[in-house]
Amino acid sequence: MGQLRRAYLGPISEVAWRLPGWPTRLLAAFSLAERGSMLDMLAAADATPRREMRRKYFLHALDEGRHAGIFASRVRALSPPGNISRAQAATEDAGLLQGHGIVAGETLFARLGEMDFLAFVFVAEADAVEQFHVYLDRRLPDPDTTAALRDILKDESFHVSYSKLECDKYRREGQPIDHAIRLARWRRVKEGWMRFTRDFGERMSGVWLLVLYFLVIWPFRLVARLERGGWQRAPARPTSALAAARLEG
Ligand SMILES: [Fe+2]
Ligand SMILES: [Fe+2]
Repeated sequence: MGQLRRAYLGPISEVAWRLPGWPTRLLAAFSLAERGSMLDMLAAADATPRREMRRKYFLHALDEGRHAGIFASRVRALSPPGNISRAQAATEDAGLLQGHGIVAGETLFARLGEMDFLAFVFVAEADAVEQFHVYLDRRLPDPDTTAALRDILKDESFHVSYSKLECDKYRREGQPIDHAIRLARWRRVKEGWMRFTRDFGERMSGVWLLVLYFLVIWPFRLVARLERGGWQRAPARPTSALAAARLEG
């Protein structure tokens, strides 16, 4: 585990799992990410010219689809009964993947090519394993989510080992795989920063609108009066079908 990553992942995880409503948001984000990687893997299985990789990508896609379902079911279990939370809605909204840039117009495989794609898979899977271990070591999730994470971790560890083997093969062939791995790390940092700035921007625009309301619109409400010929009080709405029929009559 990288020193820097260890320094920030622990405290952030402590906050993320303890604030009310945050665990479901976190689990919904995982579900979406898993669904996104399932689609990436299916696209890779379709596009790879290497026959031996087609089956691996397809099985990997099936694993990721199963993980997306497990995380979505934890979101449902942790959401208040009879109330669809934003987190739960996110796991059921197919358009959100496109809107949040998880699925771009072009597939990841097509954008990167096979070697960079495998380097990216190796880095992303290793990061996920590291992150899940932090949660489990600190006993942050509830017992059912902990059991689900342990189950998912078995698959994720396999994804790390098979993608690492493929990276090792490229290295033996003299291909610039180490450069591709460094690039994949940098790409993940950049994408993480872009996600953070987008979320921060959304929250800040809400804060500024609130400030604007209290500074400009709310004082105006204090001095505003209904005037003849100006704004009029709306007529009382009929409370029943019978009252409405009487008004029309
Ligand atoms: Fe996964
Ligand atoms: Fe995975």
